[in-house]
Amino acid sequence: MDLILRIKEFYILEALQVKLYQSQLESLEDNTVRHAYERMVELEQHHIDYHESLLIKYGEKPPVITGGLSGLVGMLWGEGLDLLNENNRYLTGIKVEQKAMEMHQAFILEAWKYPDICKRLWHNMTDEEFHMLWFKDKLEKLPHN
Ligand SMILES: [Fe+2]
Ligand SMILES: [Fe+2]
Repeated sequence: MDLILRIKEFYILEALQVKLYQSQLESLEDNTVRHAYERMVELEQHHIDYHESLLIKYGEKPPVITGGLSGLVGMLWGEGLDLLNENNRYLTGIKVEQKAMEMHQAFILEAWKYPDICKRLWHNMTDEEFHMLWFKDKLEKLPHN
């Protein structure tokens, strides 16, 4: 495993989540939902900050992000994954958070030699799971049409 490459990948993953939820925040009218999105953005920003601090520790720079949201999705999962045209934002959230959880699981297995990093990855993965479950709950409670 190339640790630096992996950390850069996670920096992009977390940046994607921040940008996605920020972009959706603008169209939210319900205050309860807005606060949840704002809190998710805060948490994802903490996740970015952690990966940035690791890169600084190893004398590296964070990756340069270009191309907006679809650019970020492409950088991580290739052009084939069409997450952003989903018309239900809760479904998009579920998919992104599930991807994030899968990536965390894989990284935790690879990073077993770095217990401090592993612990933070577990904690961050728990945040991603909370987000995913919140989206799932909101989706289930949507009135059927
Ligand atoms: Fe995250
Ligand atoms: Fe998340």
